[in-house]
Amino acid sequence: MANIALYPGTFDPLTFGHLDMVIRASTLCSKLIVGVAENPGKHPLFSLEKRRKLVESEVNEMKAKGIISENVEVQSFKGLLTEFAKLADASMLIRGLRAVSDFEYEFQMASANKRLNQNLETVFLTASEKQHFVASRLVKEIARFGGDVSSFVPKIVEKELMIAFGKK
Ligand code: PNS
Repeated sequence: MANIALYPGTFDPLTFGHLDMVIRASTLCSKLIVGVAENPGKHPLFSLEKRRKLVESEVNEMKAKGIISENVEVQSFKGLLTEFAKLADASMLIRGLRAVSDFEYEFQMASANKRLNQNLETVFLTASEKQHFVASRLVKEIARFGGDVSSFVPKIVEKELMIAFGKK
């Protein structure tokens, strides 16, 4: 049986924490779909297309370097996650847990998603020690005030942040 997993997120922007999750999640399934959500409610800084392209570019680079295998693909989606998961034939949702503060939101989301789609199991991976505090929200705040985000995000994301905040 194909064991398709979906790793959804807003990825606004993609961080090294997300990439760490992609690497680890990709070993747990036959195919991993990184699902970039439109998420208009969060008023993302970057467009859906830009976020998808940034994720895709890093995923392709990791494939080229042999860090991940060819079983990872990137797709964007609008609307309900559970509907996208059905269309993608995914049976597993991957989410990262950084701190206790993530738990309540993640628990609610996992429970709601389970009610909407009984065939979908949420699997939590703990963020790796090095990345456990990296959050897109913090990265944007640091970049907005001209701080150095190079240890949090890939080069291409750093460049886009600088453009977005008029620092270049
Ligand atoms: O990276 P994030 O912002 O924590 O990811 C949140 C995401 C995209 C997984 C969540 O907002 C989502 O699933 N959005 C799609 C709309 C949806 O299904 N909402 C109900 C979730 S119970």
